[in-house]
Amino acid sequence: MNFQIKSLKDYQDAYSKSVSDPEAFWAAIADHFQWKRKWDQVLKWNFKEPKIEWFKGAKLNITENCIDRHLVDKADQPAIIWEANDPHEHHRVLTYKQLHQKVCLFANVLKNNGVKKGDRICIYMPMVPELAIAVLACARIGAIHSVVFGGFSAQSIADRIKDAQCEMVITADGGFRGAKDTPLKNVIDDALVQCPSVKTVIVLTRTRTPISMIKGRDKWWEDEIKKVETLGLIDCEPEVMDAEDELFILYTSGSTGKPKGVVHTCAGYMVYAAYTFQNVFQYQPKDIYFCTADIGWITGHSYIIYGPLAQGATTLMFEGVPTYPDAGRFWDIVDKFKVNILYTAPTAIRSLMQSGLDYVKDKDLSSLKVLGSVGEPINEEAWNWYNENIGKSKCPIVDTWWQTETGGIMISPIAGVTKTKPCYATLPLPGVQLELVDEKGEVIEENGVSGNLCIKFPWPGMIRTTYGDHERCRQTYFVTYENKYFTGDGCLRDEDGYYRITGRVDDVINVSGHRIGTAEVENAINMFTDVVESAVVGYPHEIKGQGIYAYVILNHDSDDEELTRKDISMTVSRIIGAIARPEKIQFVKGLPKTRSGKIMRRILRKIAEGDVANLGDTSTLLDPAVVEDIKNNKL
Ligand code: WT7
Repeated sequence: MNFQIKSLKDYQDAYSKSVSDPEAFWAAIADHFQWKRKWDQVLKWNFKEPKIEWFKGAKLNITENCIDRHLVDKADQPAIIWEANDPHEHHRVLTYKQLHQKVCLFANVLKNNGVKKGDRICIYMPMVPELAIAVLACARIGAIHSVVFGGFSAQSIADRIKDAQCEMVITADGGFRGAKDTPLKNVIDDALVQCPSVKTVIVLTRTRTPISMIKGRDKWWEDEIKKVETLGLIDCEPEVMDAEDELFILYTSGSTGKPKGVVHTCAGYMVYAAYTFQNVFQYQPKDIYFCTADIGWITGHSYIIYGPLAQGATTLMFEGVPTYPDAGRFWDIVDKFKVNILYTAPTAIRSLMQSGLDYVKDKDLSSLKVLGSVGEPINEEAWNWYNENIGKSKCPIVDTWWQTETGGIMISPIAGVTKTKPCYATLPLPGVQLELVDEKGEVIEENGVSGNLCIKFPWPGMIRTTYGDHERCRQTYFVTYENKYFTGDGCLRDEDGYYRITGRVDDVINVSGHRIGTAEVENAINMFTDVVESAVVGYPHEIKGQGIYAYVILNHDSDDEELTRKDISMTVSRIIGAIARPEKIQFVKGLPKTRSGKIMRRILRKIAEGDVANLGDTSTLLDPAVVEDIKNNKL
C-alpha cells in the first residue's frame, strides 16, 4: 500500500502535509480506491451548521472496494475467518470470491423483498458471517444499515427502529454467547409490536430454537436465498452511490435520555477506516487480523468489516466471549489461526488477567506482531500484563482513541513506528488536528496540562448528522466550543506532546467499553413503580472500568430491599438491556440538590468513588443532612 507509513519520518511528513494541505493529502490517499467517478472537490465544510462534505461529486460503492476489486488477485484468499462460540463447532472460512457470491445473493434477497436505495434496515444478529454479509448486502444496494447490538432490549430496538423508520429487520432465531442462548427473534417480536414501519423480517437459522414466524412478514433467510437462486438472481451490480450518500446509522448514548443515530456516509468513511486500519496496525499481506469487538459497535463496523476488507485483509470474527469455555479462549484462537494482529478492549484484558496465567502458559502466541486496545482508558497494570504475557514484550501496543462519531481511530501509536507509553494513546494520526480547551473555551497551547479534547478541522470519517435531527448534532458536538468538534473527553497532553485520555467529562459512563448515558439509566429506573426519583453516576470498577451506581428514592420503604433492587434491575434490563443494569443501588431519602433544584452529581460521584472526605464545595447545597444520610448508608 502506497499510503503506508513506515517510519517516524513518514509519519511526521504525512502529518505536516495533512495540516498544510489537507485536500491534497486526502486526495492522494483516495486515489488508491476504486471510483466510478472521481470527486469535483475534496472538502467543503463549516462547523457552524455543521455541513461536512468529502469527495463531493464522486461516485462509488464501498462493497466494490471491499470485495470486487480484490477478486483480481485475492479471490481465493480468506476474507473472513469465523470461529464459533462452541470450540467444537467447525470454523468457517469465506474467501473473497465466496464473500462476493454470498453478498450478491443476499443483496438480491433484499431487492426481491422490495428494498431500495435509501431504505433503512435494522440488523439484530449474532456474530456469525451472515451478519457481515447482511451489512455488506445493504451497502451493495445502497440501503442504510442500522445494526443494533444483541444485548439491547426490545424497547431499545423499537426506539431505534422508530427513530430511523426502518422498513425491514434482519435477525436470527437466536444466538450463542458463552453458555447462554439469546432469543433474538423473540426480542424482535416484542419490539415490532410498536413498529408498524417494518414490513419484512428476515430470520437466519442459527440456534434453531422454536420461534414464531408470522405469515407475510417473517421469512427464513435460507428460503429467501433459494428463491433468488431459482430466479437466477446470482450476481448483483453494486448501486452507484454519491460520496455523501448515507452508508449507515449507529446509535450511541450521550448526556440526554435518548440515544442518537450517528450517521456516516460512503466515501469519507471508507477512506478513513481503510487508511487508519492500514497504518495503525501495519497490516501486511497474508496477516491474520483478529478484532474481538462485536459488530454491533462502531469498532466492529470499522475494524472487523469495512477497514480490513477495504485493504484486502483477512479478518477473523468470533461469535463467543473471552471466558468460554474458559479464560484461555482468545489465546486458543490466536494459537489455532496463528493470529498476527489482535485488537481487544481493556475490560477483556483485565478480566483475563484476573483469571491468571494458567490459561496463557501453554498457548503458542508467537505469531502475534501487534496488539491493540480500544474503548476506554487502559490502566497501567493491564497494559503491562498485555505487553508482557501476551506480547512477550516484543509486540507494540496500539492504544487507539476514537468514538462512534469519529468513524475511525484518531489518536494512536502507529505500530512499530511511534514510541509507546503505557496509558497513552500517544499522537494524533495524520489529518487529525487536536486542541485542548479549558473551561472558558480558551485553547491551551502548552504541554503538561489537561483540558477538554476538541478537534478543529474535519477528517473524512467524521459524523455528518444525527439521523432525523440535525440540530441535535450541532448542539451536541459543535456548540460547546465555537468552530470545534467537542469529543466529550478530558485529556492530558504531557511534556512530550503525548495525549492521554482521562475519561468523559459529560454525563456518560463507560461500562466495559460501552457508552451508557446516566440520564437513560435514570429514566429506566424511574419507570419502576415505586421510584420517586433517581440519580446515576459512574464509579471505578476493577474489571469493567466503570460501574453504574444508582441512588434511588422510593415512595415508601421497601420490605425487602434486595428484592426491590432486583426488580429495579429487571426494569432497567427491560427498558435498555442487561448492559445498563446498575451494579449498586442505594436507597436514599433525598438527593443533594442546589437551591435551584439541580442534582449535585459531583457529590454523588465522590461518595460512589469512596472519596467522602473530599466532597468539595457544598455551600450551595439546599439540605446538607441529605448528604450525611447518603454518606452513612453508602454501599
Ligand atoms: C468513548 C467512545 C472507539 C470505539 C469504541 C468506543 C472512550 C475509546 C479509548 C481509549 C481512552 C477511550 C472515550 C470515547 N474511549 N477509546 N483508547 N482510551 N478512552 O466507542 O462507544 O463511541 O465510545 O470511549 O471516552 O469518547 P464509543
